[in-house]
Amino acid sequence: MSDPSSSAARGLWSSRLAFILAATGSAVGLGNIWKFPYITGENGGGAFVLVYLLCIAAVGLPIMMAEVLIGRRGGLSPVNSMRAITRQEGLKPAWGWVAAIGVLAGFLILSFYSVIGGWAISYVGTAATGQLAGQSAESIGAIFTGLLGDPLRLLMWHTLFMALVMLVVARGVRSGLERAVSILMPALFVLLLIVVGYAMTTGHFGQAASFLFQPDFSKLTTSGVLVALGHAFFTLSLGMGIMMAYGSYLPKNISIAKTSVTVSLMDTVVALLAGLAIFPIVFANGLEPGAGPGLIFQTLPLAFGQMPMGSLFGTLFFVLLIFAAWTSGISLLEPLVEWLEEQKGMNRTLSTLGAGIACWLLGIASILSLNLWSDVAPLGMFTMFEGKTIFDLLDFLTANILLPLGGLLVAVFVGWFLSRKALEEELSMSPAVFAAWYRVLRYFTPIAVGIVFIYNLI
Ligand code: PHE
Ligand code: NA
Repeated sequence: MSDPSSSAARGLWSSRLAFILAATGSAVGLGNIWKFPYITGENGGGAFVLVYLLCIAAVGLPIMMAEVLIGRRGGLSPVNSMRAITRQEGLKPAWGWVAAIGVLAGFLILSFYSVIGGWAISYVGTAATGQLAGQSAESIGAIFTGLLGDPLRLLMWHTLFMALVMLVVARGVRSGLERAVSILMPALFVLLLIVVGYAMTTGHFGQAASFLFQPDFSKLTTSGVLVALGHAFFTLSLGMGIMMAYGSYLPKNISIAKTSVTVSLMDTVVALLAGLAIFPIVFANGLEPGAGPGLIFQTLPLAFGQMPMGSLFGTLFFVLLIFAAWTSGISLLEPLVEWLEEQKGMNRTLSTLGAGIACWLLGIASILSLNLWSDVAPLGMFTMFEGKTIFDLLDFLTANILLPLGGLLVAVFVGWFLSRKALEEELSMSPAVFAAWYRVLRYFTPIAVGIVFIYNLI
């Protein structure tokens, strides 16, 4: 086990870029390419996107800075960083539990994230064998329905995805990963641009752009606002201590604000590009924007089936999507594994095996909720959870409740309990920017998250 008593012993990132790469690897993933388009479609487009962007800028970014700050100041794993800082500042040790919420959230998210990662793996084969070429929207839809209806195939790909994640976490190797992120993220970006280019030729690009960027507030619901807020946390990997963990390796002379802005911007650009790639295809083929979690798997294959060299681009795209999901998956498992190592004294291999297998097992429940258990709504007696399958429940509980709650507690902790001196030391920003950030974190964030919670949960 590594010496948890000093950050120097853990080694710092070699540069600002290394931190940005790791944080971006965690942030950019299925949340941007799979989830953002389908929840935008379900929630009516423009107004939802606007609220989402506001949540990123006014809630997500300030909280990301707060998390990185805690991590750098504590210099330890999230749970221990929180404990170390509470000790330094003479606060109650109960704050350590904030990071523990994150450990639980990561575990629950990874269980279904891995199932969706498995969908992406499955589509590599579909694209590579030329099955998408020239297909109609119906047959593309049938391929997807066929996959969802086949628990064994889903299990096989879910198992492969979890194994990939566990492999990296067990070895605790990050260095090769950063180099890979620096090559494969730009490649994913280029492939998205290629699909956007294709989408422009469908004749429905304008319609898609106005769907995404012309707010129609009559379509916005309070639950839509909760989903937008929750997704801001999900997509930026906030509320579960990941940015604390990565921040603990950040050298003191690097600006927390600038790096956080960079990571948030990159994440947002990828999500918006995914929207611009997918919605023209939706409208051009008379598909339903609110089709749900299958949206990208029913639209992108159509594009790859029609564009020149589509089988090649399609294969590459899904490989890169798997990679993006993989780097996020690693960051989802890491906090639990670290926690098992530090608190339970297990070695890394054993903690990875234990955590990974438990996660894999829970994932099976999500798989079954797509087919054999598609009618099972475990908490259906509460109106709030009516009709929600196990998969829906896990998604709702984590993205819409646990992550915002974790983020809210981080905001309160940093905004109200840490000394101003500590914050100024860490942030070294111009006084005006600092004051703006401080005010947003103390007042706006807790009130906004609080109101959205109260509206939706009561
Ligand atoms: N941010 C990742 C994505 O958008 C998912 C994730 C959420 C990763 C929470 C870590 C923590 O795909
Ligand atoms: Na993201």
